[in-house]
Amino acid sequence: MSKTKTIDFKMPESEAELYSRIDGNHIPRHVGIIMDGNGRWGKKYGFARVIGHREGVETVRMVVETSLDIGVKHLSLFAFSSENIFRPLMEVNSLFGLFEEILDIEVNKLHKRGIRFIVSGDTSILPERIHAKFNEAQKLTRDNDNLVLNIAVNYSGRQEIVDAVREVHKAVLRGDLKIEELTEEFFKDFLYHPEIPYPDLLIRTSGEYRISNFLLWQCAYTELWFSDSLWPEFSQEEYIRAIVDYQTRERRFGKVENL
Ligand code: IPE
Ligand code: IPE
Ligand code: MG
Repeated sequence: MSKTKTIDFKMPESEAELYSRIDGNHIPRHVGIIMDGNGRWGKKYGFARVIGHREGVETVRMVVETSLDIGVKHLSLFAFSSENIFRPLMEVNSLFGLFEEILDIEVNKLHKRGIRFIVSGDTSILPERIHAKFNEAQKLTRDNDNLVLNIAVNYSGRQEIVDAVREVHKAVLRGDLKIEELTEEFFKDFLYHPEIPYPDLLIRTSGEYRISNFLLWQCAYTELWFSDSLWPEFSQEEYIRAIVDYQTRERRFGKVENL
């Protein structure tokens, strides 16, 4: 009689099992993602960097769908930093072209799904036509509330803080604010999108462990999650894993744990 063989390794958890571990009462209200590694993905498969950017769009669709599904209400995606403008012109132009293509294809679909599309950053440096499309998309979707999709384009966290300081200065000059009455809470109101909560969870792909000038003020107490996957290969399973892992974290905000 043959002995029953016991398999001695942990079977990979199925996506359904992982999904079932999500605590619906503890969904991050806001997830930020630094979508990094497109260029390296292109290179890895023998393509140009820009092919990696194109491939990364599928992952964007996946995280938007999954966020809607799980009930994440705010999703901030870092698409183009103010520093990225110093990349070779060919790459920058391809990225701008890709933004336009995606806006043309996706905005009506986002609108139908009740997604509000907002932009952080200065899109006025983009060709006028594309800048106008970003504005139209925001206008069209402004009353939606299934999910707020915040796309950071030509965005710099430091610049956002400097811009807020400028707005504070104007408010003081107008007599609307006394500088000695300015608090952290009030300062938030001068940021690009004070209506959205600070990120609970920040994910960065591609094995880099840095913030790269993303949401600096807002991420003071955000939980960080890093993935070695390059952005085009970041999977739904990993996204869910990040959420489940976030749910195990004890956020103390500088205080002591609940005894
Ligand atoms: C992130 O991927 C997308 C943008 C910055 C526009 P990268 O283009 O930075 O890809 P890597 O990090 O060079 O692989
Ligand atoms: C951060 O990635 C910006 C985006 C993902 C849009 P980068 O590739 O520009 O950041 P560094 O240069 O690795 O810090
Ligand atoms: Mg990069």
